Amino acid sequence: MAGDDFVIDVSRIRDEARQKMADGAVTSTYGLDTGKVIAVLNDVVATEVVCWLRYTRHAISATGIDRAQVAAEFTEHAAEEMQHALRAAERIAQLGGEPDFDPATLAQRAHTDYTTPDEKDLKAMLEHNLLAERIVISTYQEIARWLGDHDPTTRRLIESILEEEEEHADDLTDLLAV
Ligand SMILES: [Fe+2]
Ligand SMILES: [Fe+2]
Repeated sequence: MAGDDFVIDVSRIRDEARQKMADGAVTSTYGLDTGKVIAVLNDVVATEVVCWLRYTRHAISATGIDRAQVAAEFTEHAAEEMQHALRAAERIAQLGGEPDFDPATLAQRAHTDYTTPDEKDLKAMLEHNLLAERIVISTYQEIARWLGDHDPTTRRLIESILEEEEEHADDLTDLLAV
């Protein structure tokens, strides 16, 4: 069995762990360039903030007969997008980076657009958010694949956010089908 061949060089790892103590959670076994991962995560932060802004705006502006149900869903999604932004920002800090919430560059860095359909057009709002969710699902899948086994913690974070984005897309699809 391949597992029988597994040998871990603990004395080397103990020596390396003592070096660069200021790097905190980032050790010599970290498999990627932290600068690149931080840059990718900062685009995730921007994407999540733009999604939070879009859902919040749509929840407040929505009018019409199905307003209450649609606005409640947008409000719930908005709260989750904000949590996604915070979780990505926490991971950036853990990797030794600075989370970038600069409003001057948020829209350019985000994977999705901030759009404001007519307030009476609930269907257009649902479609704009579904499109955004589908873009995010694709970009996060690519990020998770790129991270692979090189940074399992960031990959699990992205996968856990991805799972919620898929739920968002499913919720919107259900509402569009009503
Ligand atoms: Fe999100
Ligand atoms: Fe989402």
